[in-house]
Amino acid sequence: MKAIRADLLDFDGTPGWGDVDSAAVRWRPDHWLLVGDDGRIGAVQPPAWQPPPGTEVHDLSGHLLLPGFVDTHVHAPQLDVIVSYGSQLLDWLETYTFPAESRYGDPDVAQAGADRFLDALLAHGTTSTVAFPTVHKVSADRLFDAARTRGMRLITGKVLMDRNAPDALRDDVVQAERDCLELIERWHGVDRLSYAVTVRFAPTSTPEQLAMAGSLCRADPTLYMQTHVAENQDEVRWVQELFPQARSYLDVYARAGLLHRRSVLAHGIWLDDADRRLLLEIGAQIAHSPTSNTFLGSGLFDWRAMDADGVAVSVATDVGGGPSLSMLRTLAEAYKVQALRGERLTAWRALHGATLAPAQALGLEHEIGSFEPGRTADVCAWRWAVGEVAAHRLSMARNLHEKVFAWLMLGDERNLARSYVAGRIAYQAPSTP
Ligand code: GUN
Ligand code: ZN
Repeated sequence: MKAIRADLLDFDGTPGWGDVDSAAVRWRPDHWLLVGDDGRIGAVQPPAWQPPPGTEVHDLSGHLLLPGFVDTHVHAPQLDVIVSYGSQLLDWLETYTFPAESRYGDPDVAQAGADRFLDALLAHGTTSTVAFPTVHKVSADRLFDAARTRGMRLITGKVLMDRNAPDALRDDVVQAERDCLELIERWHGVDRLSYAVTVRFAPTSTPEQLAMAGSLCRADPTLYMQTHVAENQDEVRWVQELFPQARSYLDVYARAGLLHRRSVLAHGIWLDDADRRLLLEIGAQIAHSPTSNTFLGSGLFDWRAMDADGVAVSVATDVGGGPSLSMLRTLAEAYKVQALRGERLTAWRALHGATLAPAQALGLEHEIGSFEPGRTADVCAWRWAVGEVAAHRLSMARNLHEKVFAWLMLGDERNLARSYVAGRIAYQAPSTP
């Protein structure tokens, strides 16, 4: 058994919008998190607890311990074009993203990219992810394999795109279905891996391909589905032209049978009331990607309306549209996006959106997202402050929310001390005790 000593913070419910004193916050300073040899959380013990002989003690006193972050929307190959200068979505895809993704049909490129991506996630405090590889079967295959090697929870699938893309990035319906079925057979349900039917977005799939994707979902309700929706206004207009019979962008996916409890839809900035009602009814989640939305000038996501309508929202980096793999930076940006809308996002609701909320929305709350006994011990230890300004500001905090909010806004991946995956150290900063 391992015993990790640190300041434990997690959630056992959903913090209310704007509630800085939420009862859903579980704050257990200087406690012990016990981890069994099976990699699962055993119990939490108070400060006075004495580790029995034979316990492997990890003394991270003075560090903040959180459940590992869950990034519900990110593109593995786009680390190659992260922070590309100067354009909105459609132009950015053509100019930077499609050329970069074209290289991933090469198994060596796919392998190196998968390793680089997952190691980077772990070095940013993200232990679980719902990710896009590329259209190439090998890129999905190598990503699954690399996650399995690291013992990580990963949901991914070969990207489907058979039109409006360069030759090197187009598949066709028959071959794509065959590739999906082979990958599902090989990886879905193996260790901590699940397959997601991955439609890039409506403009890059023919109606025939969307129908094929829908039939894959119907054939196996344990599969996830991931795509983009209503991110950018030019994109929304284009979808209207391509699918004139659909009521809305979201309706394109509904008609194809792609919306269900395990659907993860990135962005959802330009949705209306009827779309939100449909999302609630279906139980699908929005992966809100605030750093991407400001970087690509896409718009300001109405989280409050989603909350009021009861739609599940998780937070995601959307690298490389998003400029950072850091969930801290991403949550800080979410706060600013809400500020621009005249709303206030609490530190609790932000952190919940990167831990328990995605775990529940993915139906994985028995495995990840909190310190409940029985969960897999995917946990990260963070330095409260890096540098004098942060140390001073945190020392001035008058209450817990103020302290955690200051940590969230001033911190980034340089605050990460250690990441554990299933109880094993998966990343360690050089300065960690
Ligand atoms: N819409 C379709 N493809 C993409 C992508 O790669 N990134 C983002 N942000 N939006 C998309
Ligand atoms: Zn994306």
